[in-house]
Amino acid sequence: MSLLLSGKPVADKIKDYLKERFQALETPATLKLIQVKGDPASGFYVKNIVRNGKRLGAVVDLVELEEETTTQELLKIIHEANDDPSVHGIMVQEPLPAHIDVLAVDDAIDPYKDIDALNPRNMGHIMLGINSLTPCTPTAVYALLRYYKIPTQGEHVVIIGRSDVVGKPLANMLLCKAPMADATVTVLHSKSNQLKELTRQADILVSAVGRPGFVTEDMIGENTVIIDVGINEQIDAEGKVSFVGDVDFNACVGKALAITPVPGGIGTITSAIVFLNLLRAVKGVQKDNKTIDDFLTLIFIGNNDE
Ligand SMILES: NC(=O)c1ccc[n+]([C@@H]2O[C@H](COP(=O)([O-])OP(=O)(O)OC[C@H]3O[C@@H](n4cnc5c(N)ncnc54)[C@H](OP(=O)(O)O)[C@@H]3O)[C@@H](O)[C@H]2O)c1
Repeated sequence: MSLLLSGKPVADKIKDYLKERFQALETPATLKLIQVKGDPASGFYVKNIVRNGKRLGAVVDLVELEEETTTQELLKIIHEANDDPSVHGIMVQEPLPAHIDVLAVDDAIDPYKDIDALNPRNMGHIMLGINSLTPCTPTAVYALLRYYKIPTQGEHVVIIGRSDVVGKPLANMLLCKAPMADATVTVLHSKSNQLKELTRQADILVSAVGRPGFVTEDMIGENTVIIDVGINEQIDAEGKVSFVGDVDFNACVGKALAITPVPGGIGTITSAIVFLNLLRAVKGVQKDNKTIDDFLTLIFIGNNDE
């Protein structure tokens, strides 16, 4: 039977750390969360962030905008949040409606307040291994690997999916010259040939495709660690909504070395990382100079010199 890599203990450790740190602040940590209506699944993520903010003692200032909002209107709100010293972090819930210029939006967010690290400056920093905020979901994968002490140095990590929010930044984070990275990384996508041959070679297989049951038992080896990033909505005959990952969990759980569940895996950790990034933004990434590795060491191992 595979080892179950639950996200809960990882998220709980991060949240316990954050609660104490947020309480100790003189002015409350504040996240401006901007949601443009139109994507039904986004409501679930937004509610989750608002609820977690309350539990952790951070302010989540939710701005809900109509689907017809223009790029210019959205940019104005972002610029105001950039200039407001009481706002420490900014997050624009994606996907955005098709008429909005996503690149202009990502580019407008102050890189030091950019909670999901989508600003091209942060993306570039991640690629170059320069300290910056790091995107929430790839960081959740990184935190899971660290918590469960899964080595990556010299290991073959195969990532299915090359999106700007998951696949590409995760590949760059794991490629960095650092003891907790140093991986050999292969990124696959919808045009990749020999997908199964490549996934079978993975020591660590990350799936971020967005298709239920995409990863089947014949795509993995017996020593593969499977990390399922997919969160896919399923509605049964009675209209009951549930969420499943990309991996055929029941088929793979007996074969893989270890596997993350969905729900209760990467998504659970991602919601905690949103607030770890908010804390990093409060402290000022450029002033504080602690890397995400430093924070994860503090949280998982502890250090009296903090
Ligand atoms: N756990 C979390 O916190 C979290 C956060 C964000 C997203 N997610 C979930 O993760 C999944 C992926 O999200 P995303 O935003 O990265 O999705 P996305 O932007 O749609 O990207 C999906 C990727 O999968 C690739 N792909 C699609 N069909 C494929 C196939 N048949 N073979 C190989 N690759 C294929 C696509 O290739 P092309 O580039 O060639 O199109 C693309 O690179 C979704 O289920 C999403 O809900 C979870």
